[in-house]
Amino acid sequence: ASANRIERDVVIIGAGASGLTAANALRDAGHSVVVLEARDRVGGRLWTREIDGATLEIGGQWVSPDQDALIDTLAELGLETYSRYREGDSVYVAADGTRTRFTGEIFPVAPETAAEIERLIALLDGLVAEVDPAAPWDHPRAAEYDQVSWKQWLSEQTDDVEARDNIALYIAEAMLTKPSHAFSLLQALLMAASAGSFSHLVDADFILDKRVVGGLQQVPLKLAERLGDDVILNAAVRRLEWTGGADASGADGTPIQGVVAYADGGIEVAARRAIVALPPNLFERIDFQPALPRLVQQAHQHLSLGLVIKVHAVYATPFWREQGLSGTAFSPYRIVHEAYDNSYDGDPRGTLVGFVSDQKADDVFSLPAEERKARILASLADYYGPEALSPEVYFESDWAAEEWTRGAYAASYDLGGLSRYGAHQTTPVGPIHWSCSDFAPEGYQHVDGAIRLGRTTAAAIAEQLRG
Ligand code: FDA
Repeated sequence: ASANRIERDVVIIGAGASGLTAANALRDAGHSVVVLEARDRVGGRLWTREIDGATLEIGGQWVSPDQDALIDTLAELGLETYSRYREGDSVYVAADGTRTRFTGEIFPVAPETAAEIERLIALLDGLVAEVDPAAPWDHPRAAEYDQVSWKQWLSEQTDDVEARDNIALYIAEAMLTKPSHAFSLLQALLMAASAGSFSHLVDADFILDKRVVGGLQQVPLKLAERLGDDVILNAAVRRLEWTGGADASGADGTPIQGVVAYADGGIEVAARRAIVALPPNLFERIDFQPALPRLVQQAHQHLSLGLVIKVHAVYATPFWREQGLSGTAFSPYRIVHEAYDNSYDGDPRGTLVGFVSDQKADDVFSLPAEERKARILASLADYYGPEALSPEVYFESDWAAEEWTRGAYAASYDLGGLSRYGAHQTTPVGPIHWSCSDFAPEGYQHVDGAIRLGRTTAAAIAEQLRG
């Protein structure tokens, strides 16, 4: 055996919120674990950094009131939350560039358009209520809903282009971060069902409610601290050998024996079970030996991450508040499609956060950095006025350039993929289990979902190891 051979009950690949939750739950159930992490830090898509003296959430940050798995975890780890600043008017910019202040959720559009938006929200709430986020593929019309793109379906519901553009935004730019033609109605309904309703996605005060004092990366940092030396950094798993039937019961005749994971640094872990806790676009980076079953290899090719740039701009003061603005701003017609007051707890400076999604992100990434910054700040100035042009600190999160993520926020299926493969996405392959926010029924794409699936996966393995 090599000097770096480690033996454990369970090897967890990936020290994000999901993998670390599963590792702690398994250890609490009396099993030995080790977590192998590719990066030189834990947290994956959660990353709180000091940039030029400002504390910024590079990745995930908000907590909404229905996310009880995350809320429990925060309480258990002794972490406190604070509310996002939201006093005052929001801003909407229309297709012709008109800027309007408004309150409430419905954008300040012509009364006919507002009525269409309300009608579509009610219609979607009805459809979403029929979809079980744990099994959207079981909906009687799943195959049909999975064949039509979100864009196409919306265009069949209304001729009002502005109503359509606004409704599209809540799922496309704001959540899946893919163009509305690139995913299905079923995928859109799953996104909303997973957050409780379509109305929840429209309600920024719900979906972007609280932040964590010290940053949301405190969650993985504290979970990792509890595991001590059983979290190994700079240990990208390159190869995973496994033995056992292609389904968890070993029903094809081969008993499950276990895995050997080979990671950077000459690390070799022999374990009875493995949890692959990565976003699914990275599964293919591991050399599975033997190869995964046909259906699984196919399914993984139909999942991809969206693309969004999260931009922070920190100013000497939160100047928009003096104008009676909350900092909340939307426009499907601007580079920055949504923006918020993101001032850090206790920092007297004011911070705005804006998001640039999918093809708009491609467009600005094709520009030199200074020009990209100028375009993005001009977009913020459309909402908040010329003072927005001169931040003290400016930072663009660029997750698509990160080798161990490659996009943001999370993965979704291409057209038809969810109804075709979704039912199998968390089925273990022999000793190999899958856990990530991208497969979560509730809290899909969110930290809450990563934690939920981490718990479920750990419970399933603990049950098998007991038996
Ligand atoms: P995650 O990707 O975090 O973890 C996977 C880990 O595996 C990583 O640490 C990675 O380095 C590692 N890894 C990859 N390949 C490996 C290999 N071969 N070997 C070993 N390790 C490997 N959510 C939310 O609830 N509220 C929010 O406000 C936001 N906002 C937001 C903004 C931005 C910009 C992003 C990118 C994301 C969000 N999210 C969010 C989403 C949220 O951050 C995300 O869903 C979860 O953190 C994902 O946790 P997981 O553990 O599933 O994967």
